[in-house]
Amino acid sequence: MSEQLRDLIRTHTCGALRAEHVGADVVLLGWVHRVRDLGGVTFIDLRDRAGVSQLVIRDNDALMAVAKRLRSEYVVGVRGVVQRRSDETINSKLATGEVEVFAREIRVLNEAKTPPFQIADDAAVSEDVRLRYRYLDLRRPRLQQNIGLRHRVTIAIRRYFDENGFWEVETPVLTKSTPEGARDYLVPSRVHPGEFYALPQSPQIFKQILMIAGTDRYFQIVRCFRDEDLRADRQPEFTQVDVEVSFARPDTIYGFIEPLMRRIFKEIGREIAAPFRRMPYAEAMAKYGSDKPDLRCGLEIAELSEIFRESEFRVFKRIVADGGVVRGFAVPGGNRYTRSQLDVLVDQAMQMGFSGLIWVRPGEPPLCSTKALGEPALRAALDKVKASANDLLLMAAGPAEQTSKLLGQLRLAIAKRDNLLVAEAFEFVWVTDFPLLEYHDDDGRWYSMHHPFTSPADEDIDKLETDPGAVRAVAYDLVLNGTEIGGGSMRIHDSALQARIFKRLAISDEDAKARFGFFLEALEYGTPPHGGIALGLDRIVALLAGESSIREVIAFPKTANAIDLMAGAPSSVDDAQLRELHLKIRS
Ligand code: AMO
Repeated sequence: MSEQLRDLIRTHTCGALRAEHVGADVVLLGWVHRVRDLGGVTFIDLRDRAGVSQLVIRDNDALMAVAKRLRSEYVVGVRGVVQRRSDETINSKLATGEVEVFAREIRVLNEAKTPPFQIADDAAVSEDVRLRYRYLDLRRPRLQQNIGLRHRVTIAIRRYFDENGFWEVETPVLTKSTPEGARDYLVPSRVHPGEFYALPQSPQIFKQILMIAGTDRYFQIVRCFRDEDLRADRQPEFTQVDVEVSFARPDTIYGFIEPLMRRIFKEIGREIAAPFRRMPYAEAMAKYGSDKPDLRCGLEIAELSEIFRESEFRVFKRIVADGGVVRGFAVPGGNRYTRSQLDVLVDQAMQMGFSGLIWVRPGEPPLCSTKALGEPALRAALDKVKASANDLLLMAAGPAEQTSKLLGQLRLAIAKRDNLLVAEAFEFVWVTDFPLLEYHDDDGRWYSMHHPFTSPADEDIDKLETDPGAVRAVAYDLVLNGTEIGGGSMRIHDSALQARIFKRLAISDEDAKARFGFFLEALEYGTPPHGGIALGLDRIVALLAGESSIREVIAFPKTANAIDLMAGAPSSVDDAQLRELHLKIRS
C-alpha cells in the first residue's frame, strides 16, 4: 500500500548531507538501498542519483513496524533530524558518512518488485539482463555518473559553439540517403505508395546546403543512423557533434575543435595540451600500422628494408628485391621474455596472419630466432629501432601495407598485455592527407575513402583520371588513444568538380541526379568554400568516463544485434499497418 507525497517536500538530496547540517530538520526522498535490522535499532540506506544517506530508527515502535515492511527499491520519504554518527560508525568512504538522519516519519510512496539484480556497481549481471531492465541498471551509481557527465559535456559543447558564433540548426530525420559507407535505415511512406524516406547516416548534405544558405557557422548535436555491423564503439543510432564552417581551411577547423576538446576535458578536471599533433596518413600507416594510431605507448615501427637489401638472409633479401619491406619495432623490457613466452608470441603472430615473426635479443652477440640473419644486420636493425639492452626487437617482412598493419596489431596486443598503455594519458592526433579514393578489387571500382563530397588536394586534381590512387583528400580524422573520435574535410564547392568525382566513382549522371540532384543544383547558386567535421559524442564521453563500450554512456543502447531488449524493438507489425504502408513481407 502506498501513501501520498502531500507535505513531504524535499529539503536535500541523499548525497547532500554533511557535518554542517547536524541539527537540521530534513526531508529526503529516494529508493531503499538496504535495510539492516540490528534488533533495537534499524539502519536504512536511502539512495537517489546524488548519493546515499543513512537513516536510523531507534526507540520508535511505529517506525520500526514501517521499516519491517521495507524492501530494496521501495520509494520512500523520510522526515527527520540530522545527527552526527557515533565515532565507530563514521564511514569515510561515503560523502555523507559523517552524519545520519534520525527518522521521525517514514512514508512508503511506492513498493517495488524484487529487482532481478542488486543496484550496485559491482553486481555480477549479464549485459542482456542489464539492458532488459535498463531503468534499474541506470540507477547504479556508475551509470548515473556517466549520464550526468554526458549531460555536462553536451551543455559545455552548446555553450562553446554559441560563444563562437555558431547556430544550432536542426536538419531532417525523414530524408533522402546521405552516403557515409553504411546501409540506410528506410521508412516507408504511407501517402506515397512504394516510396521511402531514409534516416540520415549524417546531416552531411544538409549542413553543406546551410553553408550555401549563408548560415556561415553551423553545429548540431544530432542523432545519426547507420545499419552496419556493430562493435563496442558502434551503435546503429549514435550522436554526432556536427560542425560546418564557411570560408574555412583545415586550420580553421582545428582552431575551433582543439579549444572545444580542452573545454570538454575540463568537465573531468583534466588539462589537455594543444595544438594537437598532426600526422599524415602515410606516416600513421607506416609507423603504427593504423590510421588511428594509439600514441600512448612507443613501439614505433621502423623501416628496416635497406639493412636487409644486401643481407645474408635470402628470404628478406628476396622480399625487398620484389618491392616488399622489412619492418619492426622494439618492445620495451622485452628481453626478459622467456623462450617459451617467445614461442607463444610467435604462435600468436601466426594466428594474426603473419607469415613469420623474427625476434632479436640485444646482447654480445645479439641472439636471433633465425640463425641466418648475420650479426652486422642484427646490430644495424637493433640500432635503427633504438633498442636498449632490456628490449626485444620484433621484425616481419612482406608487402608494405600488410606488414605494417600486422605489426600495428601486434604492437597493440603487446602494449595491452604488458600494460604499456598509460591509462590516464590522453594522446590526441590529427591524421591528415588521406587518400581520396580506394580501389575495391571485388567490383573493380573506386570508392570514396570518406564521402563523395570531400575535396581533393588542389595539386592532385589533375591526377583524378590518370592516377586516382595518388590523389590526396583535404580530410582529417581526430584520433584519441587509438579511437577515431571525429572526421571531416574541406568540401567540393564547385559543381563541375563534384560531377567529375561522381564520374570517377562510376556514379552515372542519371544516378547522381536521382540521388543528389537537389544538392548539385544548390552548388550552382553561389557556394562558399567550406569545410567541417563531425565528432562522435558517444565515443568521447566513453573515453572521458573510462568506459570500454559506448553502451555505458548511452541511456538506452541497443545490443550488438541492434536489438532494444527493453522495448523489444525491432518488432513485427500487424497486417493492417503493412497494408497502409503498401508493404508485403516476403517469407
Ligand atoms: P564519420 O562517418 O567519420 O563522418 O563520422 C564522424 C564520427 O562519428 C562517430 N561514429 C560513430 N559513433 C558511434 N557509432 C557509430 N556507428 C559511428 N559511426 C561514426 C565516429 C566518427 O569519427 N559527415 C561526416 C563528417 C564530416 O565530414 O563533417 C561523417 O559522418 O567518432
